[in-house]
Amino acid sequence: MCGIIGYNGTDNAIPYLVDGIENLEYRGYDSFGCAFDSSGKIAIKKDAGRVKDVLSKYPIDQVYSNRGIFHTRWATHGAVNRVNAHPLTDCTGEIAVVHNGIIENLDELKAMLKNHKFVSDTDTEVISHLIEEEVSKGSSMESAVKSTTAKLVGSSSFAVLSSRDNSVYAVKKGAPLVLGLAKSGTFVSSDVPSFLKYTNKVVFLHDGDVAVLKKNGYKITNLYRKEPNHSVTMVKLSYEEVDKGRYHHYMIKEILEQPALIKKLLDSGLPDIKKAAGLINPSATVYLTGSGSSFYAATVGAYMMVKNGIKAMAIQSQDIPLYRRLMSNKDTIIIVSQSGETADLINSLDSISGIKKIGLVNTKGSTLANSVDYWLDMSAGQERGVAATKTFTTSAIMLTLLAYYTAGKEKDILPDLRLLSLNVYNIFVPSLYAAVDKVAAKLKNKENVFFIGRGIDYLSALEASLKLKEVAYIHAEALDAAMFKHGPLALVDRDLYVVSFMTKKNGPSTSNNIDEIKSRSGKIIGISEENDRAFDFFIRSQPAGAFSFITQIIISQLLAYKVSVLKKIDPDHPRNLAKSVTVK
Ligand code: G6P
Repeated sequence: MCGIIGYNGTDNAIPYLVDGIENLEYRGYDSFGCAFDSSGKIAIKKDAGRVKDVLSKYPIDQVYSNRGIFHTRWATHGAVNRVNAHPLTDCTGEIAVVHNGIIENLDELKAMLKNHKFVSDTDTEVISHLIEEEVSKGSSMESAVKSTTAKLVGSSSFAVLSSRDNSVYAVKKGAPLVLGLAKSGTFVSSDVPSFLKYTNKVVFLHDGDVAVLKKNGYKITNLYRKEPNHSVTMVKLSYEEVDKGRYHHYMIKEILEQPALIKKLLDSGLPDIKKAAGLINPSATVYLTGSGSSFYAATVGAYMMVKNGIKAMAIQSQDIPLYRRLMSNKDTIIIVSQSGETADLINSLDSISGIKKIGLVNTKGSTLANSVDYWLDMSAGQERGVAATKTFTTSAIMLTLLAYYTAGKEKDILPDLRLLSLNVYNIFVPSLYAAVDKVAAKLKNKENVFFIGRGIDYLSALEASLKLKEVAYIHAEALDAAMFKHGPLALVDRDLYVVSFMTKKNGPSTSNNIDEIKSRSGKIIGISEENDRAFDFFIRSQPAGAFSFITQIIISQLLAYKVSVLKKIDPDHPRNLAKSVTVK
């Protein structure tokens, strides 16, 4: 949802910021723009398109500048075009702003700025004009930025560069912003990995923080608190861990990281899960929530809780206020989020004050990790592919373990985790790749595909169908296999492909359903531990007891990736999507 990076220091900012903004493209990639100091004036280059395309039109590799702000956009207000690309300036062109968020009182603010000339359809432009208005009344840049921030309603983090002084300003309100403290200067960015090559010394900004980045240091004040308390964190991630390395795409790198993550969870992740389970009252109700893939992981958690005799339900994050009336103070809500910044979740937090909150969150310092009673670290490492892969499997496994620990039945599940950690390596063998390639070639030109399964296999089907939609642009629908005969069967003809998930336990019943499809000429792709006579194509998954569904999910991720690549789509940057959606 828009990426911001800025720098002020004694080195040339341009190579740092070009590199950093390319790293932030997972947050949005509709348009790119930058503002930098050019001998006391503000120079701006921007257009619709990816960073490298815009910079090939407007090269800046010969530029030397000590301070700048760069932006990659995921459009919310105004079409994707050059004018609406950030930075947006005031009437004089002396104040440039890049922004991540949505200004909810835009009309009201614009009405206060009748004598200003607006050129774009963005909400962001109002920030530069508000600062201009304050400065024209004699305010310093710093106090103009502060009083402007106080007027904005909604989630609005932004950075400002002006020719009126030598600073870079950064405001955190909603969307994430962090400072990176390098020897040569200070970075501000939407995330840590964007500047990790240059420093791992980080200050996580809090809501209401206004940071002033000078050439030789920084200062933070907070609009709501007198003494903002900021410590410097040494981030443990290494640059190599977040780099694509030899892989063509982050998506395949992240798919292949899963066996090692499962092993790490087995070796060192269990004590924290046990601790979280100790906070849950097993005779009250457990609500689980999330958005997108994280919601589907929440459904796995709810399924496993119920299977273990615990009252549980998964609710979509935007429905939290609706379900609040059912919750009591003995209940627990488990909030799943890779980014910890998804607006649908964050906006619902106020409605559940007083309810115990456990956050299963991958991002340290995120709004959600900081707002829950207990942060259970997903520990999956940074995920850069827009489509969730390793964070989905990590969440689904951790929630399964949490369910068994809460019920006091962990002894039943730990052998299965050990089996998974061994057998998951057997997925990535040549025969598997050959089978997946064959199926990918069949699906490539399809417009519709069904994914079916029963019980936990249906939950795998939900996530698998989302992957194919996201990265391969194929309309994919997930159905409980038992429901297929109640309507969808009318769609079956010789062109219809149905992917069937069959773990051992659910296999026999699903088998009847695929026979019904097969006898009407539909084609069946089976992802299963054993072949079935109804399968037209068979991709062998690996047994792992209660975790067998994880091996099937990993195969479906690989399948979606392969179809995406065959269709020449960039799976890391699917059209219209962003990794972290920080608007309603
Ligand atoms: C976006 C992403 C999805 C993700 C969802 C929830 O829609 O494109 O891949 O599952 O947000 O994100 P979260 O960070 O809360 O897990």
